[in-house]
Amino acid sequence: MGKESSMVDLDYLKGLSYPDFVGFINQWNVLPGAYTTLSKWIAFSRITEKSHILQFACTTGFQSREISSLTGCTGDAFDLSEQAVKMAKYNQEKYAPHSKINYFQADGLTLKAEPKYTHVLIGAGFQFFSDPAMAINRTLEFLKDDGFLLTSPFYIEGKIPDSLILEFQSVFGITPTTQDYKTVMRYFKGLEIIYEDRNILIPETEEELEHYCTGIINRACQLYNITDETVRRYMYDRLYKIKEMSNKLRPYQRYSVLVLRKRKGVYPDRLIELF
Ligand SMILES: C[S@@+](CC[C@H](N)C(=O)[O-])C[C@H]1O[C@@H](n2cnc3c(N)ncnc32)[C@H](O)[C@@H]1O
Repeated sequence: MGKESSMVDLDYLKGLSYPDFVGFINQWNVLPGAYTTLSKWIAFSRITEKSHILQFACTTGFQSREISSLTGCTGDAFDLSEQAVKMAKYNQEKYAPHSKINYFQADGLTLKAEPKYTHVLIGAGFQFFSDPAMAINRTLEFLKDDGFLLTSPFYIEGKIPDSLILEFQSVFGITPTTQDYKTVMRYFKGLEIIYEDRNILIPETEEELEHYCTGIINRACQLYNITDETVRRYMYDRLYKIKEMSNKLRPYQRYSVLVLRKRKGVYPDRLIELF
């Protein structure tokens, strides 16, 4: 799978962008709320074996793979990163061979849309697109009438210090969401809110971070037969820094779990009060 161990050197790893690095080490870069969010989506948008889903910006495939495994639904999933898609295919084969998802590389901003899906999953992924509003509008083009958009966006309470934003940019190569709740919800104003809840994130302890990073990097080293301690250390430190950075943002971040419906006779108006 992937590169030969002899080809995995420090220069190669240092040249990888954040999404490619995550894909390379096969970090299951999950949506806010992980399995808990998937369980809510499945229950409140009623995903069954008859559903046909699309995951936008699938990274290593977590959302679509696990939902297909849990419900028997079919579907497609794509990401801009070749590396991430390669890993999504590998994960499907290794961890969920019965899931019925087709993974491919594509740009969500230009991919030709066919309105044939009952559900489109995006997690917080749209907030990593160069144009989040356009990403959301594009997801809607793939939905059948009465279809569901499933998302779990981050929003901010209070103000993130500028120094933390700069530090985040240096680790991730992008700016974190700095939008408040009402600003984020504006992306979805044409849709009916079938289910919503709002959640806090409890920062992980050092012990939890170490346990997580050790497991991921041990697995990556096995995958590529990496025995060079410098390479292993670089991967561990880079992943730890990514997780530590996310941890520092947690006190300011919240996330919603949303099940949104696009119904022809209603969209893009709001005919139901917000509460
Ligand atoms: C941080 S990850 C998503 C995290 C997590 N899976 C979630 O949904 O919350 C963002 C992903 O968006 C992908 N991405 C960014 N722009 C894209 C585009 N134009 N088309 C497809 N994927 C894109 C990146 O390659 C990356 O894998």
